Amino acid sequence: MTSAHQRLGERISRFRGTRGGRRPSPATTPGGRTIVLTCSDYLALAEHPAIADAMIASLRAADGPAPAPGPCLPDDHPQIVLGAEFARHMGARAGVLCASGWAANTGLMQVVAGPDVPVYLDVLAHMSLWEGARTAGAELAYFRHNDLAHLRRRIEVGGSGVIAVDAVYSTDGSVCPLPGLVEVAEEHDCLLVVDESHSLGTHGARGEGLVAALGFTGRVDFRTASLAKALSGRAGLIACDRPGFADYFVHTALPAVFSSTLLPHDVAGLAAALKVVREERRRRDRLHTVTHRLRDGLTGLGYRLVESDTQIIALETGSEADATLVRDALVARDIFSAALFPPAASVGRTLVRLSTHAGLTDDDVNRILTACRSLITELAPAPAN
Ligand SMILES: Cc1ncc(COP(=O)(O)O)c(C=O)c1O
Repeated sequence: MTSAHQRLGERISRFRGTRGGRRPSPATTPGGRTIVLTCSDYLALAEHPAIADAMIASLRAADGPAPAPGPCLPDDHPQIVLGAEFARHMGARAGVLCASGWAANTGLMQVVAGPDVPVYLDVLAHMSLWEGARTAGAELAYFRHNDLAHLRRRIEVGGSGVIAVDAVYSTDGSVCPLPGLVEVAEEHDCLLVVDESHSLGTHGARGEGLVAALGFTGRVDFRTASLAKALSGRAGLIACDRPGFADYFVHTALPAVFSSTLLPHDVAGLAAALKVVREERRRRDRLHTVTHRLRDGLTGLGYRLVESDTQIIALETGSEADATLVRDALVARDIFSAALFPPAASVGRTLVRLSTHAGLTDDDVNRILTACRSLITELAPAPAN
């Protein structure tokens, strides 16, 4: 009989074989001249002095409460207070902070879905939403990306349940059809969950996210977010209007019950980051300016982009080999991008993703466009004789 040790060995070899050494991001650390388009620090907050100062002050004071199991926190604990502050920012009644976006999504799905509550997921919805629905023991039904007619048909078969989507999809930067989703959810009495990981901070006049920016705050049941993107921290969030939900979540969601709370300096950093997101609008404006310049420039050069206007720019590269080629050719020009292969992208539709940020200068944008122009010539097949 094959042992667990042998099985693991086989799995690792199979993984190595199928992956052929490919990796989504360059293997080296970016140097000083490198333009990094692989991270989600969209507002360039990682080096913001006010955020660093808040974290350092918290560490030096060392008087914050130590991490504890979630259900043990008092109502005036900084993590609870900050959760409420995030909710207010987004125009929601209640907010719960979690250890990560993964914990927020898996925990939420676990407590809202179940064997008697099916889940309808956009095929590109974040894996954490799928994983939570699976943990809940729910019937899962996917619908084609952003296809409302397909979603309707699924619900007509499966009945009222939970619809789960991303506001902005991390793989290709596309945006969910929010007005239509709200309509379908209301028509069929479904709960609507929208993951705002890639829109919180970047969308809306004060960075309150896509749902609030489009005026749907009272009509989306749950908004979740990873705060490791535009907020540049390490935590997750659930915002909603339902009375009693925060207490219910903290005492029943497995990631909340069986995992520790945030560290005091992380809470301090996130509080400072939220203030910056609200007050420094110029960062959002800059993000939109560089994004539009880059999108227009790439389209003008003849690149095929996934249609969107968000900060996640996805070049359609087709085969895995082409994605690797483009990614590596950009690395050779000191530009780091991410090549997305299955399961992050669909089979036969690999992408090279350029995530823009507010720290890009006009020179950086010019350098990216110059590199992409020369790349086209380099990669174009030689004309047949
Ligand atoms: C849309 C989306 N949701 C959730 C997550 C998970 O967030 P975290 O990295 O904070 O666990 C991510 C991160 O990759 C994401 O892109």
